Amino acid sequence: MSFAPVVLRADRLSREVGGRLLVDDVSVEVRQGDVLAVVGPSGAGKSSFLRLLNRLDEPTGGTVWLDGQDYRSLPPRELRRRVGMVMQTPALFDGTVADNLRFGPRQRGADLPDDEVAGLLRQVGLAGFAGRQVERLSGGEAQRVAIARAVANAPEVLLLDEPTSALDEASKREIEALVAGVVRARGLTCLVITHDLAQAARVAGRVLVLEAGRARRVGPVEEVLRAEGTGP
Ligand SMILES: Nc1ncnc2c1ncn2[C@@H]1O[C@H](COP(=O)(O)OP(=O)(O)OP(=O)(O)O)[C@@H](O)[C@H]1O
Ligand SMILES: [Mg+2]
Repeated sequence: MSFAPVVLRADRLSREVGGRLLVDDVSVEVRQGDVLAVVGPSGAGKSSFLRLLNRLDEPTGGTVWLDGQDYRSLPPRELRRRVGMVMQTPALFDGTVADNLRFGPRQRGADLPDDEVAGLLRQVGLAGFAGRQVERLSGGEAQRVAIARAVANAPEVLLLDEPTSALDEASKREIEALVAGVVRARGLTCLVITHDLAQAARVAGRVLVLEAGRARRVGPVEEVLRAEGTGP
């Protein structure tokens, strides 16, 4: 039982497109420092749900509470700084690793000093990579840069949409470990989509099972995996 404050609360969140409910009345809360895995079959609405959480898409019903505040009252730019997102394939722009890390802070007029760039890179296991060109990075390295770039904005919440599904087993485990480390070190609150229940068990404390846009189950990871018939 955790008594950490609820950082993010989806409140009857829905999104309807062309008469179809992609996300259907989903409520869930995530406490500070917790990792919530979002699982479910392909097409269940996992990505659609995540995109509502930082208003990349607009809900057609319900809302999200961030630190107790209705997110519709926040300027989108502030919201997206506070709720960072990492995609399945990292969307980096050409240039150096440091350029990519500095982009977000610069948009708010903050210049990330060299030692902070180095610190972020150390945290994701890429010490010494600041001057490297991103187009020459491996998939796993690029994903680490994408995570460091999200963290460079000092978010409260980190959303990850299948961050390891394009990676091999070894890189997958490394990314899992570094996400856990970053979440712990920075007291982040994290939601991670995975189609891999074993990964959910390794990284998350709680799990949300989506099916046809609806929250079929939410609870502690052991409980949910047991109920799904894949637990110990
Ligand atoms: N902008 C959109 N307009 C209409 N339908 C959409 C849109 N985006 C997604 N969908 C549909 O909504 C459903 C849920 O898609 P979503 O991408 O959220 O699923 P998912 O659970 O992330 O699946 P996967 O595991 O394959 O990534 C799918 O049927 C998809 O085709
Ligand atoms: Mg998806």
